[in-house]
Amino acid sequence: MKRVFIDTMGCQMNKSDTERMLGMLSYLGYDETKEPKEADLLIINTCSIRQLSEDKAFSEIGTWGQWKKHGKDIKIVFSGCVAQQKQKEIFKRAPYVDLVIGTHNIYQLPDLIKRIENGETRICECPDTPYGEKDIEIKRVKSVNAWIPITEGCNNFCTYCIVPYTRGRERSRLPETIIKETKDALSQGFKEITLLGQNVDSYGKDFKDREYRLADLLTELNDIEGDFWIRFVTSYPTDITDNLIETAVKLDKVCEYFHIPMQSGSSEVLKKMNRRYDRETYAKIANKVRDMVPDVTITSDFIAGFPGETEEQFEETLTAMDELNLDYSNTAAYSPREKTVAAKWVDLYIPEDVKTERLRRLNEKNMECCLRSNQKFVGRELDVLIENFENHKGKNVVTGRTRNNKIVHIPCEKDLTGKFVKVKITGAKTWYINGEIID
Ligand code: SAH
Ligand code: SF4
Ligand code: F3S
Repeated sequence: MKRVFIDTMGCQMNKSDTERMLGMLSYLGYDETKEPKEADLLIINTCSIRQLSEDKAFSEIGTWGQWKKHGKDIKIVFSGCVAQQKQKEIFKRAPYVDLVIGTHNIYQLPDLIKRIENGETRICECPDTPYGEKDIEIKRVKSVNAWIPITEGCNNFCTYCIVPYTRGRERSRLPETIIKETKDALSQGFKEITLLGQNVDSYGKDFKDREYRLADLLTELNDIEGDFWIRFVTSYPTDITDNLIETAVKLDKVCEYFHIPMQSGSSEVLKKMNRRYDRETYAKIANKVRDMVPDVTITSDFIAGFPGETEEQFEETLTAMDELNLDYSNTAAYSPREKTVAAKWVDLYIPEDVKTERLRRLNEKNMECCLRSNQKFVGRELDVLIENFENHKGKNVVTGRTRNNKIVHIPCEKDLTGKFVKVKITGAKTWYINGEIID
């Protein structure tokens, strides 16, 4: 048996690609190992959303390059978003890489692996091909939650973002494929399905032969027999339709959770980011979701220090987080990305120390918002899907998530992973809530 080690960076889209790669590699006789030193084949599945993630990829494979230099018989593959973006340039920084494979080409992996096994080196396969999906087995990481991509790519071209360049234009996967993948995951024991896309609400816009959108897909998935939950991420604010919200409310398996990145609280900054909404429009949408979906959790992403952002504009982000009662936000300092429009506005770059300070304040506000959001649920009874059993500071606990995506810690002597339980919420911390099982 040959062994493969995959280091997966970045978002769920990359995690999902890793599962697909492991599935294909199992046909070539590769078993996964979590120990890079034991592997014959080493793959780094990279992310280029920020400079830091890109640098991390190169520093990690530096070690693998050393092993190879000292005579270890290994093959090294560079995949993911940095591969798609840098292509052949990767060999300049890492000449020991055997294969660079782009995000559009993962279905060619088996053939390419055979070629490097036969001694070819420095292959670069990154053309932007149409969706070359094949019916392949997926090796899912055994867990409770299955990630299922429904669209890939993005047409929005926000001025800071590299994703349209690394993942290409938006393509929707066929409902039949998604439904089959969902049924397969459920038969393997998965209890939660998360539909993935850079902008899930535009699902189906590219179908020429049918009128079929996210609400239709949710309805069909909800009809599948069994006890499971359905989530979907990420929602672009102005693409959330009333029909989608109403459908989500109506369907019992669809959870009360929306991830709707706002990016900035300032209308001027949003305009420069090429987001298609201003502060007021975002607020209207978020408030509508809150009014229509009982107990909904709304999470967001924010960028601190976008080129030209003034102190006042930054403070508008802080007040937006408060006013909109956002339950949790991912935060990042702006990082200029090659090819993107904003990266060219060098004169407007915010100094590093200012960006760091703004990010610190953003994180502080985020913590306040999270704690406040968690405190709302103390005393309530909520359904929880258990995901883990562990020893936490000397005590056995199970952890899981509520329908509205709150992490819950529950003292429990039994491993209830994969079970739905009713829990009374007893306390709130910043990043999670505490509870006790009531049945
Ligand atoms: N499609 C999603 C975002 C996907 S990228 C959306 O439109 O909201 C995930 C997050 O990374 C973004 O929401 C943004 O907050 C962050 N991000 C993207 N490019 C960035 C950059 N150049 N610098 C810092 N953060 C960035
Ligand atoms: Fe990037 Fe904007 Fe597309 Fe999101 S919508 S992936 S931020 S370009
Ligand atoms: Fe990163 Fe690519 Fe995802 S850039 S965030 S891995 S789509």
